[in-house]
Amino acid sequence: MLYWTEMPFTTIRPQRQPVGPGRERRPRRRRTIIIAAILVLLLAAILYYVGTHRAANDQSSMTLTPPASSKTKEQQSVTSANGVGDKVASDDNFNKKQYSNDDPASLWVIVNKRRPLQPKDYAPQVAAPNVPLRLGASNPEMMVSTKMVPALESMFAAAKKDGIELMVASGYRPYSLQVSVYGSEVKAYGQAEADRESARPGFSEHQTGLAVDLEPVSRQCEVQDCFGDTPEGKWVTEHAHEYGFILRYTPTGEPTTGYRHETWHFRYVGTELSKEIYRLNNPPLETFFGLPAAPDYQ
Ligand code: DAL
Ligand code: ZN
Repeated sequence: MLYWTEMPFTTIRPQRQPVGPGRERRPRRRRTIIIAAILVLLLAAILYYVGTHRAANDQSSMTLTPPASSKTKEQQSVTSANGVGDKVASDDNFNKKQYSNDDPASLWVIVNKRRPLQPKDYAPQVAAPNVPLRLGASNPEMMVSTKMVPALESMFAAAKKDGIELMVASGYRPYSLQVSVYGSEVKAYGQAEADRESARPGFSEHQTGLAVDLEPVSRQCEVQDCFGDTPEGKWVTEHAHEYGFILRYTPTGEPTTGYRHETWHFRYVGTELSKEIYRLNNPPLETFFGLPAAPDYQ
């Protein structure tokens, strides 16, 4: 009996080659196979050579003449990785013309010994901030420009969280008050010394409402150099710029501003400028804006 699985084998099994004449064809077939193999090897060698040669050319052209675009990208990534590029960009992009340096109501007004307030009896909009004050809240000297109030309150609140209790020693000073403040200084120290730490009436940035003298609630070192060494003085020196304030009269600024280092006197300019000034290591406003130095009255 024939099983069905046997049938295909039987049917498709190739016929045996005939013995004799059929054997004579074998050497020719072997030659053909050898020639074909040689041709394949030859072709492979040619392809390998061409490929390697092109890769080498590509490599040397990258080294010698890199495409302009990729070179720029590489430089850009190195620059931004070390942060220098960002700083330069920020410097170049800072718009120094954003606010007026002349308008007494401007956030960036510059008042000094050669730039009196105009008009000389200018009076800003002021309000008493909700922070510890040396005098009563209805006293104009305890008020500051309404532009400064929220920033001052935020800074005092942040200081308090750090255990630092600040107080306003002196804020807005109208022309008439500056007459008596300057007069007292002259009486106490003589005009030359008074001019190093007190502005003549009509020349004080306290009259803009944008300046504030700070002290500890303990009144330790009140409007004295040693305020800078108190925990309160150290805190504001380190953090004031975060809230839009700058140290206006720095240890090195006297040849430009005409005032000696006032560790207690802070000027509100807004965070955009205060952070830039701090980053640049506190140049005087005159220097930053390219205005003439004002070491004395002309
Ligand atoms: N103490 C600063 C200079 C002023 O009197 O305005
Ligand atoms: Zn002051």
